[in-house]
Amino acid sequence: MKIRYASRMEGIKPSAIRSLNTNPKMIFFGGGYPDPDVFPVTALEQAFAKVIATSGKEALQYSASIGLPKLRKQIAERMKREHVECAQDNILILQGAQQGLDLVARLFINKGDTIITEAPTFLGALGAFAACEPNYETVQVDENGLNTDALEALLQQKPDAKLLYTIPDYHNPTGVTMSLERRKALIDIANRYDLIIIEDTPYREVYFDAPPPLPLKSLDTENRVIYLGSFSKILSPGLRLGWAVASQELIEKLTLLKLGADTQCSTLNMAAVSCLLEDYDLDAHIIRTRAHYKKRKDKMLDAMRTELPQDIRFTDPSGGLFTWMTFPEDFDSRKFLLECAIPEFEVGYVPGEAFYAKTPEINHARISFSTVADNLLETGVLRLANALRHYKNR
Ligand SMILES: Cc1ncc(COP(=O)(O)O)c(C=O)c1O
Repeated sequence: MKIRYASRMEGIKPSAIRSLNTNPKMIFFGGGYPDPDVFPVTALEQAFAKVIATSGKEALQYSASIGLPKLRKQIAERMKREHVECAQDNILILQGAQQGLDLVARLFINKGDTIITEAPTFLGALGAFAACEPNYETVQVDENGLNTDALEALLQQKPDAKLLYTIPDYHNPTGVTMSLERRKALIDIANRYDLIIIEDTPYREVYFDAPPPLPLKSLDTENRVIYLGSFSKILSPGLRLGWAVASQELIEKLTLLKLGADTQCSTLNMAAVSCLLEDYDLDAHIIRTRAHYKKRKDKMLDAMRTELPQDIRFTDPSGGLFTWMTFPEDFDSRKFLLECAIPEFEVGYVPGEAFYAKTPEINHARISFSTVADNLLETGVLRLANALRHYKNR
């Protein structure tokens, strides 16, 4: 039989990350998962038990595609603390922020439409957008996030661009955060060029010292920002729960698409998270989560400052799970990884080239500290430093 796939499958590739981590002895800085040691297992056990005991029949039944009203209300209250003016009608519950990327893409992108991503950007977003066969344009990210001057210059050339995708807080993969000034400039540009913005921010609450600047959604004057939040990094990714905040009109359209995609999120999971938000101090848990990752980040970056050669640069994130390493310009980070770091030194990361929608840069790596145990962070960095020395001398 000749399998006749749809043309959209041409843009859909397997993950560059999952195929790298096969040796159990390897210290792998490539994974972007949160650390399971911070999941509030007991609190979730109690929440699920309570929901089953007190409202089991409802919790095991189908429910509205838009999500449970009580959970949507609780999320709207949390969003108000972020200065986002919204009500329950502005919230759609999603199977993680990832589903928001898929639904928003399907809502707006026709084949060949121009959309703008940051360079580099989140691999999962490229995976979601690929099925809509967009034409990509990209804008560089620097230490203050998306470069809005470069965006404006691009839009002068490509005024028909329809949608912009950004990760303003503790960006995946670079770890950088967009400044408030850039956020204001971005909203101004989006208003002038009639751009829809996806503000994807699953790491927003995982900051190390001060909170990040105001969300783009709170600065949005024309209902053109779709905010995507997630319980994955503050509670647990296995629950598959996130949310979109947008105008009621957009939420209704996205809900129609969600109905066609998966009917709804798990009623039981939504009810358990709603119960947990009522009975458990999630904010105190998030404070502990921040301290956990900050300790790891500090430990890893201290080791990197001491051990790595001077010509290697890396970002110092103020939240999230990643730093972005930049090798000298002609250094091929994938070649080094596959020929030396993994086979000879049992240390790994994700080569940066995978994170570009358009023109890959070969001399970067995404390094995550989230799932490498405290006692292995220094050893891992040392292995990387030794691998680099060995590679240079051979
Ligand atoms: C930038 C970004 N967006 C979205 C997601 C998906 O998150 P969720 O688990 O909420 O689907 C991730 C997960 O790593 C991410 O890094």
